[in-house]
Amino acid sequence: MPSSTSPLPILILSTSLRAQSHSRILAQRCRKELESLGCEVRWIDLAERELPFCDAGGCYGHPHAVEVREAVEWASGIVLATPIYNYTLCGQAKAAIELAGKAFTGKVVGFLCAAGGERSYMSILGIANSLMLDFRTWIAPRFVYATYSAFEEGALVSEEIEARVVELATSLSEASRSLVPTD
Ligand SMILES: Cc1cc2nc3c(=O)[nH]c(=O)nc-3n(C[C@H](O)[C@H](O)[C@H](O)COP(=O)(O)O)c2cc1C
Repeated sequence: MPSSTSPLPILILSTSLRAQSHSRILAQRCRKELESLGCEVRWIDLAERELPFCDAGGCYGHPHAVEVREAVEWASGIVLATPIYNYTLCGQAKAAIELAGKAFTGKVVGFLCAAGGERSYMSILGIANSLMLDFRTWIAPRFVYATYSAFEEGALVSEEIEARVVELATSLSEASRSLVPTD
């Protein structure tokens, strides 16, 4: 746990396996903002790891499951960057939540979502509800949702989406500082 004056520990979990991932671009912009706010940011990209599916048994001892769980335990706030697949978050993001489980208790979570179209806007709410009910996780209510039109040639070009990323970084850090107990 951080003291009230130490840098705020924030984990960014980028969960897309896609090489030119839009949610990873959002996560990178968010990282820059959090670092400029003085947070201590830990970055985990699941494209560089092989997270197992949850089998409610041996999976919890897998080195990458342990790494994710310990990073969630360490953090006051967690930024979850995810593609929207089939009107929900992607399988790797769900696996990470299943594998870290109770480590999310009392933490603040913010979502960065990349999607193909506007109609899946509310896709993240099911997992947000589950985190709130299972683990009393605090959810940053104004999440980021970006479609293809926000990106050009591997870069974020929408000022509106960029402003939402900045807002999420600010509100997540403020909420994490206020709501997650320190020593
Ligand atoms: C299997 C699959 C399912 C998808 N389902 C949806 C969906 O339900 N709604 C949507 O808006 N986009 C959907 N998409 C589009 C992705 O959300 C989009 O490509 C997004 O950029 C993926 O995030 P990423 O770039 O970070 O990998 C789907 C894409 C794939 C491959």
